[in-house]
Amino acid sequence: MNYPKGDGVMEKTHSHRQRWSSRLGIIMAVAGSAVGLGNFLRFPAKVAANGGGAFMIPYFISLLLLGIPLMWIEWTLGRYGGGFGHGTAPGIFHSIWQKNRFIKYFGVIGIFGPLVIFIYYTYIESWTLAYSFFALAGKYSGLSAQADMKNFLSGYQGLEQNQHFSSLGPAYIFFLITFLLNAIIIYKGIKGGIERFCKWAMPALFFCALILFVRVLTLGAPDPAKPDWNIINGLGFVWNPDWTALKSARVWLEAAGQIFFTLSVGIGVILTYASYLSKGDDIVLSGTTATSVNEFAEVILGGSVILPAAFVFFGPVDIQNIAQSGLFNLGFVTMPLVLKQMPLSSLMGFAWFFLLFLAGITSSVSLAQPAVAFLEDEFNIKRGRAVLIFGAVAFILCHPAIFFLKNGVVDELDFWGGTLCLVVFATVEVILFSWVFGMENAWSEVHHGADMEVPKIYKFIIKYITPLFLITILGAWLYQDWLKVIFMEGVPPENRIYILATRLTLLIMFIVLAVLVRHAWRRKYREEVRP
Ligand code: ALA
Repeated sequence: MNYPKGDGVMEKTHSHRQRWSSRLGIIMAVAGSAVGLGNFLRFPAKVAANGGGAFMIPYFISLLLLGIPLMWIEWTLGRYGGGFGHGTAPGIFHSIWQKNRFIKYFGVIGIFGPLVIFIYYTYIESWTLAYSFFALAGKYSGLSAQADMKNFLSGYQGLEQNQHFSSLGPAYIFFLITFLLNAIIIYKGIKGGIERFCKWAMPALFFCALILFVRVLTLGAPDPAKPDWNIINGLGFVWNPDWTALKSARVWLEAAGQIFFTLSVGIGVILTYASYLSKGDDIVLSGTTATSVNEFAEVILGGSVILPAAFVFFGPVDIQNIAQSGLFNLGFVTMPLVLKQMPLSSLMGFAWFFLLFLAGITSSVSLAQPAVAFLEDEFNIKRGRAVLIFGAVAFILCHPAIFFLKNGVVDELDFWGGTLCLVVFATVEVILFSWVFGMENAWSEVHHGADMEVPKIYKFIIKYITPLFLITILGAWLYQDWLKVIFMEGVPPENRIYILATRLTLLIMFIVLAVLVRHAWRRKYREEVRP
């Protein structure tokens, strides 16, 4: 292999590493990781809550200045690290800056973050599998009011015992099934598991989304007395801009956060996926294609289904309340009621929840892969055993999210693993890439094997604008929220003990991962000294 290096020295070739079998396979897998619950649940709620169409301005600016540069950076660093036999951030960062003993510990975030997201994401994903089944079985078909549907959800989540569910048992069973499906796909490996699964799951997902998209766009006004409750006004509700929203720093942070979450950048998963590329594989066009697929799914499909449909049936006043009342209410309370009013309602309900399930599982397998790759690459553990170890640890860690949902554990995990870590990790990546690896080296590494050229302006953007943008976001967050978060402002007193326990668990997880990194490198060093 002949390509530019930072101050890293090529250790050895790693032809034994797993590889993607085709370009289509890697694009589907990365798009599968990106297209997730974030596209169909999180995005519409963020748009509605943050100024409608005006939200799209910071959103697209963040896409151009953060999302796209970071996507190319992660594909490049991942492929580069794979050449050294490393599929996760500690090893990849170390390959770029070998003289720095500490940089590999920053890489711990790239295993910790996805693991934290995985432990709550998989549980939420299991609800979508359960609801697909409930839709087909007609389990909620007798319910027609928001309050009843909300009861149904609360009973399912174990927040209360009611006529629908007397225990958390059904939710736990669907969680076990979902967890097992994830484990099987990961166990089957990159090519035989993730790539193969995404190659059929992604078209199936788009098929479900298109059915709903066409159905929603062809809705008439259901109530002749209320002709204004129509699809055009429904789309207007989502897209009409409220320009005052642009003055709020929070709206900009939310837009940047959505870009990270939806593209799966700043998490660490693209690094790992890209580490299974071969040196000559194109990354510019493939990365751009996967990003475009995600944006189509998010902006066109995600933005046109749930809110406009809810508008048509519930009108402009109720929809405001629904949009403010949270991600889960829109997807699990409002949407089933909307679909119930259409012909073939069970099938439509199934299409909606199965779409969410496919979107979820193609993302959750990617969230698991960094931890598995870490065990395989840095400890030479065989895939089967690595998946077993990962499965056992992740399984235990999922339980607080299941049993203490009502105490705010999931929100806490989402804040540290799914929000703050992303911005910190992305900042480290972009600085390493453009300032340590060096922009000239980085630029030629990006273009190695590339089928198209990245516009030159991105040299400037990646070197100056992206890091500045990220540092500003972090600074603004520290200034506005740091103390509030530390002192748990706004957390009900009865939940504080759960939040503290979650933070302690996260701290222990981070320390254990850092110790494992230290141990792995000591082992390598001993092997090098005494081969
Ligand atoms: N990118 C994934 C999603 O949007 C995590 O859900």
